[in-house]
Amino acid sequence: MYVTLREVLAEAQSLNMAIGAFNTHNLEMLPAIIRVAAKEKTPVIIQTSEGTASYIGHRNLVAVCKSMADEYGVNVVLHLDHAKNFDEIRKAVDAGYSSIMFDGSALPIKENILGTKRVVDYAKAAGASVEGELGTVGGTEDGVVVAQSEVCYTDPEQAVEFIEKTGIDALAVAIGTNHGQYKSKTNISFNQLEKIRDAVNGFPLVIHGGTGVSDEDVHRVIDLGIRKFNVGTDLLVNWNIASKKAYNELKENASNRNMVLPAQEAVAEVVEHRIKLFKNIA
Ligand code: 13P
Repeated sequence: MYVTLREVLAEAQSLNMAIGAFNTHNLEMLPAIIRVAAKEKTPVIIQTSEGTASYIGHRNLVAVCKSMADEYGVNVVLHLDHAKNFDEIRKAVDAGYSSIMFDGSALPIKENILGTKRVVDYAKAAGASVEGELGTVGGTEDGVVVAQSEVCYTDPEQAVEFIEKTGIDALAVAIGTNHGQYKSKTNISFNQLEKIRDAVNGFPLVIHGGTGVSDEDVHRVIDLGIRKFNVGTDLLVNWNIASKKAYNELKENASNRNMVLPAQEAVAEVVEHRIKLFKNIA
C-alpha cells in the first residue's frame, strides 16, 4: 500500500527497528529499492530532493510508487527530502507525496517553528506526514555544503518544545553525522542521542547522512530511538560505479537496459544490506 511516514514509523517504534529511507535520483532506481523491501517484508521510504522531483515529475513519482506498492505488496512512503521552499512543498503535497521534510534547521528556532508549523498545517490537511529538523547536519547534499564550523547538535530541551509546538511526525537530529560521507565513517555522539531520546520520550527520530554510519553503529542508534534511517550517497556511488563499467564494456548499440541492469543490481545489494541491519535483529 501507499502509506504515510507516520504509519510506518509507528510500526518501527513498536518493533524497535528503523525504516530505510533511500534517496533516488532517477526512476530506474525505484524497482531495485522497492523489490528488496518486498523481499525483506519491510516498509520502505523513497525520498527525492526537489531537483529529482522536478526532473522526474512529481505526479510520475507518486504514480510509480503507488503502482509498485500494489504490485509488490509492500508499504511505500514517498517523501520530499530537505524542502525549504513552501511553493515546492505545496507542489509535492498537491501531487500526492505522502510525506514532506521541512528543513528549517538553518533558521533561528522561532522561525523554524513557524515555518515547520505552516508546512504541518498544509500537509496534514492533505493527509501527508511531516519531518522537521533541529540542529545542523554537516557535509554536502545535492550540491549544498554545510561547513563543519556551522554544525551544531540538537538540543534535547529545544527538541521537546519543537515537537510540541509544530505537530511534526518525526524529528531529524544532528548528532555528528554528515551528508555525503562515503570515504570515511562518522563519529556519532551517542551521548547526545541518548539525551535527546530521554527528553522526547519515544518520539520517532531520524538520522541523516546514513552512508557514513558504520554497520557496528546501526543497532546502537536504533536502540537509542532512530526510526527513519536516511541513505543516499551509498546508492548513488554504487550506481555510478556499476553503470560506468557497463557503459565502458558494452557496445554503443547495445540495449540501454544492459547498462541500467548492473546499476540496479548494485543498488539492490546496498539496500538489502542496509534493510537487514535496520531490522535490528541481534
Ligand atoms: P547520505 O547521502 O550521506 O547517505 O545522506 C542521505 C540523507 O541524509 C538524505 O537526507
